[in-house]
Amino acid sequence: MKTEKPIIILGIESSCDETSAAVIKDCKVLANLIASQKIHELYGGVVPELASRAHQKNIVPVVDQALRDSGIKKEELSAIAFTRGPGLIGSLLVGVSFAKAMALALNIPLIEVNHMQAHVLAHFIRRKPDEKEKIVHTAPEMPNLPFICLTVSGGHTQIVLVKDFLNMEIIGETIDDAAGEAFDKAAKILGLPYPGGPLIDKYAQTGNPHAFKFAEPNIAGLNFSFSGLKTSILYFIRDNVKSNPDFIEKNLNNLCASIQYTIVKILMDKLMLATRQFSLSAPGKTEEKYCIAIAGGVSANSGLRKALTETGNKLGWHTYIPPFEYCTDNAAMIAIAGHYKYLKKEFAAQNVAPSARYKL
Ligand code: KG4
Ligand code: ZN
Repeated sequence: MKTEKPIIILGIESSCDETSAAVIKDCKVLANLIASQKIHELYGGVVPELASRAHQKNIVPVVDQALRDSGIKKEELSAIAFTRGPGLIGSLLVGVSFAKAMALALNIPLIEVNHMQAHVLAHFIRRKPDEKEKIVHTAPEMPNLPFICLTVSGGHTQIVLVKDFLNMEIIGETIDDAAGEAFDKAAKILGLPYPGGPLIDKYAQTGNPHAFKFAEPNIAGLNFSFSGLKTSILYFIRDNVKSNPDFIEKNLNNLCASIQYTIVKILMDKLMLATRQFSLSAPGKTEEKYCIAIAGGVSANSGLRKALTETGNKLGWHTYIPPFEYCTDNAAMIAIAGHYKYLKKEFAAQNVAPSARYKL
């Protein structure tokens, strides 16, 4: 019996401050390695020059280890997929140059991937059987096309209409700060280190989400704005610290819970509006069910994960939340995007250049 040759993709991600390499075989992850750059903690945010230097140092050992972990020899690879953008140009350059050189040396196709498209496609990474119970979703196992995805990261906040694996339309986006940026900037005001999103999430667990009220934006349609919220938090903290220097310390959990509640509410309100405007029904279903997904670093937030699940249960959506390791930046999502492009033979030429503002 003739068996189909498996599609084995090496994915490389270097758009911001994580150097990551992954190997996937027929959409199953064999290895997904991430080298995080601690150095930025000292500066309260990602320093582009330090990020590209760290990528340069990490890329060879990370790719080498990913291949070892996967048990795949480089000669067995079908193609190499890399993040072309959006991201920091110096960081992108490292991954792009490395991927080009390796594909050339192995004489295999090179595939360029849009980082934001890859965040959405993380939902199509097939799980190993023992990991299946970790997936948080209601049936079916993967979202039916078309579906709506709220992609929330450190640099972007987008509501995306996913028409097909490689055909996505932004139907709403932020006009200023991204949701992850709102978490990180709020954390900075509270004196927490970068990245502050996960810390706000942690302290919020034991706080009262209604303890403090912050300004919510009044933006028409499906777009977002977070800069007013940041200012509202800044002034509120400044005024209270003036009269009580221990204000932050004494109220940290309630502050974090209230900030998280406000950001999640802003996101969920627009997501609900989007589902009303784009009445999607799952193909082949008699009952009308929306498939609604979240993706990107902020989809690791426990408040957002809970809000999506609860709203989905109430409104009858099928909801999709990536496992934690595929929310924040990782190369497995780059490799899965590469898989779909490989199927369509969408290969890049050797003169492909990184694109800091690469559009979806
Ligand atoms: O997708 P990602 O890893 O990188 C970008 O493409 O930007 O997202 C990083 C963002 C950061 O702003 C980080 O604070 C936020 O995701 N983040 C979180 C959580 N985990 C990561 N924000 C809130 N709660 C979390 N648990
Ligand atoms: Zn990202």
